[in-house]
Amino acid sequence: MLWIASLSLFLIPLQLGECRPPLSPRQTTPSLHERVGLDEASQDNTLAKVYGVAMKNANQFGNIPIPTGFPEWISAKGTQYVNKDKGDWTAGFFPGTLWLLYQRATTLKQTQKVNSTKLKYLAEAWTVNLESNKGRTDTHDLGFMMHDTFGWKAKLTNDAQARDVVIESAKSLARRFNPTVGAIRSWGSLTDNNNFNVIIDNMMNLDMLYWASQQTSNKTLADIATTHALTTIKNHFRADGSTYHVLNYNPRTGALLSRGTNQGYSDSSTWSRGQAWAIHGYIATYKHTKDVRFLDIALKAVNYFLSKLPADGVPYWDFNAPLPGPRDTSAGMIVASGLLQLYALDRARFVKEKDAAVKLIEDTLKLSSPPRSDFGVVNGQWVVKKLGYEGLLMNGTIDNNPGKTKTERSANTGLVYAGYYLVEAQNWILQLGL
Ligand SMILES: *[C@@H]1O[C@H](CO)[C@@H](O)[C@H](O)[C@H]1NC(C)=O
Ligand SMILES: *[C@@H]1O[C@H](CO)[C@@H](O)[C@H](O)[C@H]1NC(C)=O
Ligand SMILES: *[C@@H]1O[C@H](CO)[C@@H](O)[C@H](O)[C@H]1NC(C)=O
Repeated sequence: MLWIASLSLFLIPLQLGECRPPLSPRQTTPSLHERVGLDEASQDNTLAKVYGVAMKNANQFGNIPIPTGFPEWISAKGTQYVNKDKGDWTAGFFPGTLWLLYQRATTLKQTQKVNSTKLKYLAEAWTVNLESNKGRTDTHDLGFMMHDTFGWKAKLTNDAQARDVVIESAKSLARRFNPTVGAIRSWGSLTDNNNFNVIIDNMMNLDMLYWASQQTSNKTLADIATTHALTTIKNHFRADGSTYHVLNYNPRTGALLSRGTNQGYSDSSTWSRGQAWAIHGYIATYKHTKDVRFLDIALKAVNYFLSKLPADGVPYWDFNAPLPGPRDTSAGMIVASGLLQLYALDRARFVKEKDAAVKLIEDTLKLSSPPRSDFGVVNGQWVVKKLGYEGLLMNGTIDNNPGKTKTERSANTGLVYAGYYLVEAQNWILQLGL
């Protein structure tokens, strides 16, 4: 008894030092979790915003109609999401964020004010309508739409039907592969014999192909992914590790016809989100293949990205656009999540990358956190009393290409995918026990 008492006396000051609010702001440095938005108040705010949007059309029993519109972006002056159709490339990110919060409440053991049964119900309801995309061969965006939704469902709940949806999606995507070009067609119809567009974003689909390949032992799916990744190293990169956005190939001969941009500043510039897709995509490709060519190119792309960050640490929307210009917080969050995935592969080797990821998240939260939502207890239930700004981050840029009309351009918005990758990165931090 005596021994226990004196031991706990010794321990008490240490424990208090960790969980008490600082006596004076100058005396303590914030904890890692406070820096990356994982302290309790920040987690509550994240949950409140996502839960508040998910429950917008709930009836008095807390049930929602199956959603048909999917949150995508919030205008610079607005606070509410503009929705997109279930077939849009971004339709999976809001459901995917719900799955990430379900992961947080279950396998990551974070006590959440909305219980996991409810989060699962919402994630499933928001996911179900996307299934009709699984047979599509008119888009390459099935990785975003299907792997970030049904893929999470399969991984987090062991649901065999969700797994089959992802496998079918991977097979549909594989039909867009052209062996002569050695790549998966991003835009355009399968029957276009003159143009074959491949955008750097396409690297984000490979994770789904590798996963489906492992699940089915069908090597073809992995081979397609690897071939696409090798062709992309050859043609999408400059010597300094920066990337072009859109390439056009001749689908009959495989010849490279042109390099340019869609959403970036110019055909020869580096669009920061494109660079981020490359980084995240090659890290996933390295994870699945352990082929050092993919690690090398990922690290080169990372060095370029980090070297172009301004003093406040939040990337501009294009690394070659005139300053000052709008930021793209989504680019930073995609990179942060990728770097943490890399750190998870080898914690001794990729410490610098982990530190860079933490700094990206911290800097982004400092610059671009919207006003918090008001979460409180009513009749013994946690409810969102005031939702306010619906997104998790501001200062995302969809497209600021000066060649486009004013209405086509859209900067300083709230982007659902900036929030998705922020939560994904935060979940890595929790999973890694940082
Ligand atoms: C971030 O977005 C808000 C809302 O549109 C805007 O007022 C602010 O100036 C932006 N900040 C930066 C650094 O661009
Ligand atoms: C969690 O929420 C569900 C659905 O709202 C409810 O039925 C269940 O009782 C709750 N569980 C706990 C442990 O509060
Ligand atoms: C493996 O996947 C490819 C691409 O989807 C498909 O053409 C092939 O039939 C599959 N092989 C088997 C044995 O299912």
